[in-house]
Amino acid sequence: MIDILIEGAGFDYPDGTCALKQVDARIPASSTIALTGPNGAGKTTLARLLNGLLVPTRGRVLVGEIDTSQVPASRVAGFVGYVFQNPRRQVFASTVLEEVSFGPRNLGRTETQVEEAVQVALEELDLSKRADYHPYELSQSELRRVALASVLAMQTPVLILDEPTASLDGADQERLLRVMAGLRRRGKTVLVITHDMDFVAEECERMLVLRGGQVAADGTPEEVFAAGPGPGLERPAVWRMAQALDRPGILRSAALLDSLRPGPGA
Ligand SMILES: Nc1ncnc2c1ncn2[C@@H]1O[C@H](COP(=O)(O)OP(=O)(O)OP(=O)(O)O)[C@@H](O)[C@H]1O
Ligand SMILES: [Mg+2]
Repeated sequence: MIDILIEGAGFDYPDGTCALKQVDARIPASSTIALTGPNGAGKTTLARLLNGLLVPTRGRVLVGEIDTSQVPASRVAGFVGYVFQNPRRQVFASTVLEEVSFGPRNLGRTETQVEEAVQVALEELDLSKRADYHPYELSQSELRRVALASVLAMQTPVLILDEPTASLDGADQERLLRVMAGLRRRGKTVLVITHDMDFVAEECERMLVLRGGQVAADGTPEEVFAAGPGPGLERPAVWRMAQALDRPGILRSAALLDSLRPGPGA
């Protein structure tokens, strides 16, 4: 079980852009957390800091006991898997099988362990029949699933999904929810970067709102939406519907339906 601590972490890109000013936050083990905020708020930069791809230029990031600036990125990647916002930037191998095998092999797993992890990940994302395809032969949906499968196969305790809900069709959305439910059952920590507030309300226990490279809100969705998520971010549809039906503060559709059922003796 691994907690992540972000302590006064800031990041400037080499061209001088200050993407994160100073971020303090804790991501407790086995939680499902949303990371949200307007475009350019620093969400992807923070994800790269958590996964060791970047190290903070100020402050520090602790993954369990590990200070990410003190170890090679590959060590951090063994704990925190990161599914890129753009799968074309992540996927590089010449077949799906090679792509999904790369991560676990790189972590030093035995060939038997690699084969098993890859098979499970391909099945979970309905990609078994695509194992020998070149990634460029795949649809956009399949390519995104390959990016997710290659991180699932690494079996890290923490996973970061960068905008997995952007432009998904119904089948993809259901598949994503299934995968997330499986991760939760296995006690994984899942950090989901998203602009989809309905998804946050239904799926996440906590949410962190970044704005201009700083934490603008951090709490349960109930707390954050009660206070208002701030400019550019809408409250979830269920929250607004519940408000109109005089059921303020309800966020999830199941809870709203329950509240509308006639009580005993009604
Ligand atoms: N490689 C880079 N070099 C210089 N500046 C960058 C680089 N990548 C991002 N930035 C800048 O850093 C800031 C934060 O960007 P980041 O991609 O982390 O935001 P984001 O919240 O993920 O945005 P989006 O919602 O659009 O994905 C922005 O001002 C962005 O232009
Ligand atoms: Mg981003």
